[in-house]
Amino acid sequence: MTDLIKVTDDEAIRTVRMNRPDKRNALTLAMYTAMADAIEDAGARKAIRCLVFAGAPGAFSAGNDLQDFVQMASGTGGLGEPIVRFLHVLAGCEKPLVAAVAGNAVGVGTTMLLHCDHVVASSDARFSTPFVSLGLVPEAASSLIAPRRMGHARAFSLLVMGRPMNAAEAKEAGIVNTVVSPADVEAEAYKAAREIAALPPEALLASRRLLRGPLEGIVARIDEEADHYRTRLKSAEAPAAFPPFLPRKR
Ligand code: COA
Repeated sequence: MTDLIKVTDDEAIRTVRMNRPDKRNALTLAMYTAMADAIEDAGARKAIRCLVFAGAPGAFSAGNDLQDFVQMASGTGGLGEPIVRFLHVLAGCEKPLVAAVAGNAVGVGTTMLLHCDHVVASSDARFSTPFVSLGLVPEAASSLIAPRRMGHARAFSLLVMGRPMNAAEAKEAGIVNTVVSPADVEAEAYKAAREIAALPPEALLASRRLLRGPLEGIVARIDEEADHYRTRLKSAEAPAAFPPFLPRKR
């Protein structure tokens, strides 16, 4: 159990809020587990018609906790099974997913958005995936979904070169639906969530399945990327790339 993920239900809408602002919502294994549990549980509840992912003001998520990566690299932290489970649950979720992104969305903070159906970003949002600089590879099936969504050139710039996108660029690339001021980001996300939740659920489910296509290829790519992760974390490149990102005050 962790209180770093807050799950709240308001009528048909479940909010899954990442709540570790002091670490810019870097995700620990326990946080992945709590998010996967919240998504799975929502899937089993007829009354929940839409989920909203939210972060803290100015920090959607700094991505995977780098300390966990270091532990995985040293062989003391397992091989990230809770991360893979979260990605499977996220990709397989049958309820519509909305995200309210303010501030930094790094690593999985960006790639999880590729599984969302509607993304609202604040004008100060910044999307970045420094996987390769960290000696790693893209995850969350982003290596499959991102090139389809935004074309190879933009996907390569984001996922391989690690060049960040601002909110306007992310909208242009098809990751984001709407860009609003930081003060309005959650209100705008809930507006979309309420609109989605009011749709006839069976028609919504069927339509969403049609738009998303078969899950198998996505799950296979998540697993293929995870295999690379395990190898990369044990490589000389990855641990060597971590130190500059580790906490300064301990
Ligand atoms: N894992 C663990 N801790 C992290 C973290 C991460 N991914 N990202 C940030 N933190 C911690 C910092 O170490 C710092 O801890 P400290 O106060 O104990 O020193 C705290 O969060 C605040 O970070 P800081 O860099 O001062 O915040 P910022 O607002 O200036 O910058 C980011 C925010 C997200 C741009 C920056 O922290 C960053 O680039 N983080 C690394 C992101 C990353 O590489 N993620 C992995 C992707 S695969």
